Order: sequence, then C-alpha cells, then structure tokens
Amino acid sequence: MEKPVISGKTKVCGVIGDPIEHSMSPVMHNAAFAELGLDYVYVAFHVKPEGLEQAISGLRGFNIEGLNVTIPHKIAVMALLDEIDPLAEQIGAVNTITNREGYLKGYNTDASGFLETLTEQGTDPAGKQAVVMGAGGAARAVCFSLARSGARLAILNRREELDWAVKLAREVSATFGGEIPAMELNEANLAKVTDGAEIVVNTTSVGMIPRADSTPLPTRYLAGKPVVFDIVYNPEVTRLRREAAAAGCVAIGGLDMLVRQGAIAFEMWTGQKPPEAIMKREALRVLEGK
Ligand code: ATR
Repeated sequence: MEKPVISGKTKVCGVIGDPIEHSMSPVMHNAAFAELGLDYVYVAFHVKPEGLEQAISGLRGFNIEGLNVTIPHKIAVMALLDEIDPLAEQIGAVNTITNREGYLKGYNTDASGFLETLTEQGTDPAGKQAVVMGAGGAARAVCFSLARSGARLAILNRREELDWAVKLAREVSATFGGEIPAMELNEANLAKVTDGAEIVVNTTSVGMIPRADSTPLPTRYLAGKPVVFDIVYNPEVTRLRREAAAAGCVAIGGLDMLVRQGAIAFEMWTGQKPPEAIMKREALRVLEGK
C-alpha cells in the first residue's frame, strides 16, 4: 500500500475518546482511503470529558468531514449535535457524526453494524427468540436493533440489583411493545431463557483478553442454538465462538461487526463503499500485534 500524500486538499475524519490509543478505527479507515485513492486522512484525537464541548465546536471550526465517537463520550456528545437519527435517539448513544457545512448529525452505526452482520450471515431476527447477555452500552445497540427487527428478547446481566437490565428491558418494550424478561446472569436463569432461544448474543466483556479463557455461556447451553453472536473481537475467535462453532451453531464474531460499523460511517462521509476485507485485514494486523 502506498503512503498517502497529505496535501492542502486532504479531508480529515477522526475518532474521539478517552483513552483512544488502542482504537482500531485509524488503521481501518486509512487503509480503505488508500485502497480507493481517496484524499482523506483519519486520525485519533484524545479528548477528555472536560474537552468534549470544545472538540465538537472544533469539528465545525476545522470543517472536519466526519467523526467517530467512543467511550466515554457516546452519550454526552448527543446534547452538542444539531440532529440525532431516530435509532440513535432510542438507543441513547451516538458513535458517528456527519458534518454538512457545520450541521452535525449523530448516528449509531454499532446498531446497524450488528444487524447487517447478523442478516448477512443468514439470520433474519424477525419473530425469533433472542437472548442478550449484558446490559451496557453495546447491549443497548444490540437490543434496540433486534427489537426493531421484530425479535423477542430476554436480557441477562451480572449485577444483582439488575438496574441496567430492567431499565433496558423497560425502555425497549416501551418503544416496541412486548414483555421482555430481565434477569441476573447466572446458570439457573441461563438454563431458563436459553431453552428455545434461536439467537444468543454476548455483549459482556467476558472472554476478552486478558480473560480469553473465560466464557459467559457454559458449553451445555449451546446445544440447539442456531446462532451465537459474540461481539467481543479481541481475541478474534473467543472461547464462546470456538465452542459455539464446535457445537454446530452459526458462530459470529465481533470483528465483522466492528468492520461493518466503520464501513457504514465511511460511506456516510465519502459516499463510497469501502473495501471491508482490507479494513478487516488491517484490524487483524493490529489485534495480532504485527
Ligand atoms: P460496552 O460499551 O462494551 O457495552 P459497558 O457499557 O461497560 O461496555 O458494559 C459492559 C457489560 O459487560 C455490562 O453488562 C457488564 O455487566 P455489569 O452491568 O454487571 O457491570 C458486563 N460485564 C463486565 N464484566 C463482566 C463479568 N465478569 N461477568 C459478567 N458480566 C460482565
């Protein structure tokens, strides 16, 4: 890949977060710009919470083309934008911003990235029974996109007080209707809700490096589950994904979702579809420390 020339015409996109140095987005987007010969550059900005407002003003001031937003700004940034896409509004989090002559619009491409990856692997969630483990930021995007597509949900979360799972279940059923059970993530409840489940999604950090030997779902609950989606991408193949594949499930990993959410943002900014295989290859190179 040729090193891009940065000139007076080069357009700028980027990502803000705190911390930000481990973001995969710069390598994915810059590889895609280079492959398509687009005169763009994508940079990571370390923005602390107290600097968020100035950073968003700077987006307008510097006429930056587009921005990704990551932890801890996905919620706080919403109040600083001109318009929020309805799905991002429901989820309550924005991870992508477009800038059209100073008019900033926020989207949630995590949600569309999840759903498109699922459907591309041959699963239409409409009418299916889905179990979501976890109730944090990623779970919100997953639950709202599943419910919007007509899936029936159950949500399990570690916290005993169940605040997050109950709150999320209430919000999703207030928007889309239906009873959504919210329970503690434990063996007894897993046994209950995974019986008959057609889609199981892990949105917790269980199985992520450095705890790659752990899994949120003991192997005995995998039998007869058509689809298991682990949104963890580090390692690329988690223990859950490996065991799900061995149990005969369609086992989907988080890297495809990561690439897809980036690809959706890329298209919003440039009007072009990026080469996702190249984005994935570059993300893997970073993950594997090469
Ligand atoms: P993200 O944006 O990736 O969703 P998050 O909002 O911090 O990150 O949410 C992390 C999720 O992983 C939460 O559901 C969390 O459960 P708690 O609400 O109980 O904290 C879940 N999680 C993290 N570590 C976990 C563990 N060891 N066992 C089970 N769930 C865990």
